Amino acid sequence: MKKRIQLAFDMSWTTVETQWRLPGSWVDQHHPNIGLFEEAARQAERGGLDMIFFGDSTGIPSTWKDSIEDAVSYGVAWPRFEMSPWITAMSRVTSHLGFGLTYASTFMHPFYTARLLNSLDHITNGRIAFNVITSQRRADFANYGYDELVDHNERYERLEEFIDVCRRLWDSVAPDAFIWDRKTGMVADPTKVKAINHVGKFFKVAGPLSVIPSPQVHPVILQAGGSPRGTRAAAHVADHVFGLTKTVPLMAQQRSDLDKALVAEGRDPEKVGILWSSRAVVGETKAEADALRESMIADVPVEAVGAWLSHNTGYDMSLLPPKFSLRELQERIVAANASPVGFVSLLAKQHGETAEITREEFFRHGLSAATGHNITFAGTATQLADQMEEMFEATGSRGGFMLSVSQSAPRAIMLNIIDQLVPELKRRGRYRKSYEGKTLRENLSA
Ligand SMILES: Cc1cc2nc3c(=O)[nH]c(=O)nc-3n(C[C@H](O)[C@H](O)[C@H](O)COP(=O)(O)O)c2cc1C
Repeated sequence: MKKRIQLAFDMSWTTVETQWRLPGSWVDQHHPNIGLFEEAARQAERGGLDMIFFGDSTGIPSTWKDSIEDAVSYGVAWPRFEMSPWITAMSRVTSHLGFGLTYASTFMHPFYTARLLNSLDHITNGRIAFNVITSQRRADFANYGYDELVDHNERYERLEEFIDVCRRLWDSVAPDAFIWDRKTGMVADPTKVKAINHVGKFFKVAGPLSVIPSPQVHPVILQAGGSPRGTRAAAHVADHVFGLTKTVPLMAQQRSDLDKALVAEGRDPEKVGILWSSRAVVGETKAEADALRESMIADVPVEAVGAWLSHNTGYDMSLLPPKFSLRELQERIVAANASPVGFVSLLAKQHGETAEITREEFFRHGLSAATGHNITFAGTATQLADQMEEMFEATGSRGGFMLSVSQSAPRAIMLNIIDQLVPELKRRGRYRKSYEGKTLRENLSA
């Protein structure tokens, strides 16, 4: 039997960056109407998708020109809500669909987070995934008391300890601890409820967690670290990994690096999928899809691109000279503790490490990255399925895709993914006919 492709829908971007200007947008008229989110969830479940996912960043970008002005003007990375209450509402109109939400271990506390996720796992009946990130954005750090980014390695050390503590807390109450004996008045067996007494570099947590174990006990953990240190952390904490769609050889390299890191952790690489983050534009013809894809980069102000690039690389791109070396820029980004494997490093791989680039050229590439144009599959359903199968096989046939769409949800999720792409993948035996598991963990490993 052919290996199945997993599909999740990333709904993070439908209201930010330039997405809201595209055809079918419902911002201004309906956003943030919970009814629209509920409808997107119903549609995603109709299509049999594994999960709707929400990434996060908490600060309004402020690195570009040391100001939030352009980000505010053009809706770069904002507005963004705390998604847990919205997920609760979406879960009440669905039965199988999973939900992924994102918090930064750099700012949150594991006791609070473990307790929150336990509640969400109860409410959704075992359909929660936690995408744990370190954050690399100055505006986020500024909201949590930091003037500078915390050292990149230290962020990952904290992330590993954070998840270790969460897991011990989720295990601190045994699944059969509760008795609820009306006659004796016994609620729970004290021998099955244990303190964890964790004392580590970053956290001191006594425990136990004051809750009933949830259906999954441990919500599914996702992680997106792409640097060597991030890959090690992902191998330590993640059930499944997020990857950024790149060229096929670079994706295959990431898969192979992750496999080595998993083996070093004593884990089986066959059980850990990578969900590749990409965008889908499906048309009746290739020309129609291409035209839609090109509309993503039309009329985007350069200030919006600058605010996006500066936010995501930790370097104020308004200071760039007319011509510069990508290597030097990359060195400055690494020195500032932002990600060593972000936009500039990928561009350096494309152009050659020693290449010089003009400011205009740099911003042209930046426009494509900021709008998701560079990771958009555009074509007919058959062409998209061909491309996805090729990438899936080249990266070890484990995991699948975290797709977003270039127009607005929920209409575009139907037009692109559910009514066109999913049936094509099903025809090829690459997608399951219906949900097979009860929990998200079971569906992701099906
Ligand atoms: C698919 C994907 C989703 C991500 N989602 C978020 C997010 O929601 N919020 C965030 O601050 N960073 C997000 N990131 C960035 C990662 O957390 C991480 O910083 C990045 O992959 C670079 O890896 P590194 O930190 O190991 O250098 C995401 C990355 C990828 C590839």
